[in-house]
Amino acid sequence: MGKLIKYAKPYIWQSIICPFLMTGEVLFEVLIPLYMGRIVDIGITGGDIRYVMTTGAKMVAMAGASLLCGALAARLAAVASMGLGARVREAMFQNIQTFSFANIDRFSTASLVTRLTTDVTTVQNMYQMMLRIFFRAPLQFICALVMSFRINTNVSKVFLVVIPLILLALVIFGPIAMQRFKRMFKMFDGLNASVQENLIAIRVVKAFVRGTHEKQKFKKANDDLMHAAVSAERLMVTAQPMMMLTMYGTILAIAYISSRYIIAGQMEVGSLATILTYIMRILISVVMIAMMFVNYVMSRAAASRIQEVLDEKPDVNDAQADPALQVENGDVEYRDVCFKYDAQGKKNVVDHVTLHIHAGETIGVIGGTGSAKTTLVSLIPRLYDVTGGEVLVDGHNVREYTLENLREAVSMVLQSNVLFSGSILDNLRWGDKNASLEEVEAACRAAQAHDFIMAFPDGYDTDLGQGGVNVSGGQKQRLCIARALLKKPKILILDDSTSAVDTFTDSKIREALRSNLPNTTKIIIAQRINSVSDADRILVLDNGKISDIGTHEELLERSMIYREVYHSQQKGTIEGGES
Ligand SMILES: Nc1ncnc2c1ncn2[C@@H]1O[C@H](COP(=O)(O)OP(=O)(O)OP(=O)(O)O)[C@@H](O)[C@H]1O
Ligand SMILES: [Mg+2]
Repeated sequence: MGKLIKYAKPYIWQSIICPFLMTGEVLFEVLIPLYMGRIVDIGITGGDIRYVMTTGAKMVAMAGASLLCGALAARLAAVASMGLGARVREAMFQNIQTFSFANIDRFSTASLVTRLTTDVTTVQNMYQMMLRIFFRAPLQFICALVMSFRINTNVSKVFLVVIPLILLALVIFGPIAMQRFKRMFKMFDGLNASVQENLIAIRVVKAFVRGTHEKQKFKKANDDLMHAAVSAERLMVTAQPMMMLTMYGTILAIAYISSRYIIAGQMEVGSLATILTYIMRILISVVMIAMMFVNYVMSRAAASRIQEVLDEKPDVNDAQADPALQVENGDVEYRDVCFKYDAQGKKNVVDHVTLHIHAGETIGVIGGTGSAKTTLVSLIPRLYDVTGGEVLVDGHNVREYTLENLREAVSMVLQSNVLFSGSILDNLRWGDKNASLEEVEAACRAAQAHDFIMAFPDGYDTDLGQGGVNVSGGQKQRLCIARALLKKPKILILDDSTSAVDTFTDSKIREALRSNLPNTTKIIIAQRINSVSDADRILVLDNGKISDIGTHEELLERSMIYREVYHSQQKGTIEGGES
């Protein structure tokens, strides 16, 4: 919590002035009952209408001043707290942008969304409450108490019994309430996570007809939350009548004691009225302090979750980079490279790989699911950093390039790729924001996307909808390839990027890549041997290790895995026709 306060710095004036205004509000407010008492005692009892009028006018003026202070304070508190929230969100978002894949794996997307929204709102509300109540409640408490004692010390001694009683109740019930609210917030997090996961994957849920299962899962999370909330509220509901009982009890006690003083002529009726008003003030401020305390504890959890995001250091950074170094040729070398996703894990996902890919070469990569094809190529643009050995591009360790320079030169079409909301053209220009229309079109022709784009009524201006929902799987893959081509990369990596494209189009794309990008190093991961058979060399990966590498013919001759995959696929095409 304390660490987040620094984000309120631009709002330091609002944050400082607000408590002062609050003080003003309380002071004016506390005087009003005093004047009211005088109206009764001097004005009404003495039959002095003039006195009633002038004192009444003073009361109105004071009420106005109090209102003004209160309204201004509320406004400043809102500005400061909303500002704090916005700055915290901004800082988090900026840090998240620097996260590597590994950082994101650690948090999960759903949790990041919750932290960025719900948690920030909680902290923001806490800050607002603090600005408004932190000074106000204790001040109101003290002022009202002092005034009561000034009016009549003997009567006010009732407070000395009541207040310790209330504090005792708070000490007993406070921790229980806290516990229950904490549980409620935890359930709330669970519900959030469940809903987000479901909505992100709603298509999969529907496709697998898992709706009922998901509904039950949701119902459970929702019911858990409800029970937790009811249990928390139950306590609050019991607390309220108890509070009322205390208040009326106090009023009765004070009225009883005062009546004896009044009858004996030692106290005025108006003073009694004034003290009764102060009772309310005192009790309300005690409740406010208690509430603030509960809230503070609640928001501590949110604050620490926010702090985690802010403190997370990107695993992959430019610490050893030389900004002047650029990728010139696109020569890639793996030197005894090992990698595992989990630093504590025993088994290497990529296991002692040594391999040299020459600039301009086309390398096919074949291997069963989970054989670490994606992992192996992710190490080139440093989506992940090696855990052993080194990866070199043009003879330099990839860490020597800035991430920007490196990723500018290495275009990777991810296996599960996404397009963003906006037009096709907007999306393609992610590759190169200054690309001319001709360049965009050339890239799309190479990726065999031009024809289907032109078939849309709006052509390149067609809106893709969020996540690119308006195009088919194969169309999306071709757009992603075109987008990668626009970067004019030195190294192009296609990770299973034509899996949803028919074989004929697939071969046309390869043909275009060969003729349009002769000097670009191309690494093509594929499930179909046909997609890589014309590569200069083909890498056969097995369980994170290089099983073999060579041309199609060489591998057919000596690699058993390759031969088996090839024959099984050939059989498929002969029996099932071209797919
Ligand atoms: N983000 C991740 N965190 C932890 N483990 C991962 C992660 N991604 C992949 N793995 C694991 O690493 C291994 C290699 O995965 P990888 O994605 O490289 O396989 P692949 O050869 O590309 O498979 P496919 O053909 O299915 O795409 C798998 O066992 C997988 O479970
Ligand atoms: Mg993969």
